[in-house]
Amino acid sequence: MKFYISTKGIKRLTISSSDAGKGLPETSKSTTALSRRIPSRTLLPVALVLGIVLPFLFVRIAFLVLESTTACYSTLDCIGWRFFSGADTSLKLREELSRALLEANKAGNNINEERIGSFNELVKEMTSKRQDVRAFAFKTKAMLLQMEHKVQSARQRESIYWHLASHGVPKSLHCLCLKLAEEYAVNSLARSRLPPPEYVTRLADSSFLHLVLLTDNVLAASVVVSSTIQNSANPEKLVFHIVTDKKTYTPMHAWFATNPVKSAVVEVKGLHQYDWSQEANVEVKEMLEIHRLIWKQYYNNLKGEDFEYDGAHTRYLEPLSPSSLSLLNHLRVYIPELFPDLNKIVFLDDDIVVQHDISSLWELDLNRKVVGAVFNSWCGDDCCPGNKYSNYLNFSHPYISSHFDHDRCAWLYGMNIFDIEAWRRTNMTATYHQWLKLNLESGLALWSPGVLPPSLLAFEGHVHPIDPSWHVAGLGYQYPEVHQETLKDAAVIHFSGPAKPWLEIGLPEVRRLWNKHVNFSNKFIRKCRIMG
Ligand SMILES: *[C@@H]1O[C@H](CO)[C@@H](O)[C@H](O)[C@H]1NC(C)=O
Ligand SMILES: *[C@@H]1O[C@H](CO)[C@@H](O)[C@H](O)[C@H]1NC(C)=O
Ligand SMILES: *[C@@H]1O[C@H](CO)[C@@H](O)[C@H](O)[C@H]1NC(C)=O
Repeated sequence: MKFYISTKGIKRLTISSSDAGKGLPETSKSTTALSRRIPSRTLLPVALVLGIVLPFLFVRIAFLVLESTTACYSTLDCIGWRFFSGADTSLKLREELSRALLEANKAGNNINEERIGSFNELVKEMTSKRQDVRAFAFKTKAMLLQMEHKVQSARQRESIYWHLASHGVPKSLHCLCLKLAEEYAVNSLARSRLPPPEYVTRLADSSFLHLVLLTDNVLAASVVVSSTIQNSANPEKLVFHIVTDKKTYTPMHAWFATNPVKSAVVEVKGLHQYDWSQEANVEVKEMLEIHRLIWKQYYNNLKGEDFEYDGAHTRYLEPLSPSSLSLLNHLRVYIPELFPDLNKIVFLDDDIVVQHDISSLWELDLNRKVVGAVFNSWCGDDCCPGNKYSNYLNFSHPYISSHFDHDRCAWLYGMNIFDIEAWRRTNMTATYHQWLKLNLESGLALWSPGVLPPSLLAFEGHVHPIDPSWHVAGLGYQYPEVHQETLKDAAVIHFSGPAKPWLEIGLPEVRRLWNKHVNFSNKFIRKCRIMG
């Protein structure tokens, strides 16, 4: 006796009883309706079989329902599964499947072997060709690998595009520079002296609070200055020193001359206005050249590596940001030379917003150290993922590993107070240069490109930690890890990372904190369609 059970189930059940039916007597013609479809010869066996099977089914289902209440989420699913497989076969199937999966796992990762794009295709393939468990395991593996690969390369591309997007200067900012340069040429007010002659004495007066900004971004400078003044208890005590390059000098000057800030003093100086010795010029050139070589080497290494996407992936690209090559960015090491008349300054990056009065920063005792800085340990003591020394320095190099602690948290650059007297006393700039030369001699392998890594080395032992609420950084990352409360309490928020607030790629919630200080009623801002 053979059973053929098709997918349509009991409806097309036929019983061929070539042997068993032979000996049975023919049944009467009264069973007409049924006999048209089922030969009357087989009617009795059917009745017999049903008589045996149905009670069995009933009992089996009853047991399954009882069992299922404890083991299954859905009774129907459970019955279906167990009914057709039974405990023994399920165990066997599981074993077989495990074996097949292990086998598939051991086999090489040839994702091009079978092109299965979707789950539907997989089901079709498996059911139409009646394939076995082993084929299923291999096909599923191929499919998963293929999808994983797609997701990975999409993520990699996304983060590379995101970084590339951070490299461009928006057209609107370019426009602002051009319009302001034009204004400088045609409007004598835009050329008026900065600061006005009656305030010039304040530039070197140590009873005022001196803030230094090195930037070629007019809009960013305007935000730093206006947010500082707006939140200051005594704005008339503030003196801003803005140093910019030759090409940005006229627009920068025009902006601050036509947007005078109430009570505070702003000085705008171009690099071309400094009269540095030949020796100093050579040093600066050499410094830039070494930074450029480090950048190039890092870039070539990264290009050659076929690195896989992981969470820290974007951090590998970060040292390649344009700021790693910017002269103004690296010139911060020359602050004592840029301001020979000052003994103390607060240094501000251009990608920050000041949210509270910062005059008490000026009063902090730096304990004879050169720089006051926040140590980035936002998740607890010595907890600073992505900001440890090992993220900036090459600890495979014996010189680094023998001198520094791999797990130390780096300090934050971008809102610092510098005791310039102590800086001069300790020859910090010379130490910095020695490190640069050492790196050049070591095949440029000591650190990743950027301003911070060599500063970590040069200022080692000269950093005084200040309260973390002074400076909250990292708002320029794709997913900033900052709590709302911390953000609100921060005296200075810093858009460190690729997503600068003047770019479209930043998070709108944090960009709003910056946009608040852009004067959208200014005619140049309007003309250049700079929008928040
Ligand atoms: C700093 O440099 C000056 C002149 O180059 C030198 O006389 C002095 O010893 C140096 N000081 C330190 C602490 O290296
Ligand atoms: C780190 O230093 C080691 C040892 O000098 C060197 O082989 C390696 O290339 C360096 N890594 C980088 C990324 O420069
Ligand atoms: C914004 O710009 C306008 C026009 O230039 C000026 O009158 C106004 O005072 C500025 N507002 C602030 C807050 O600077």
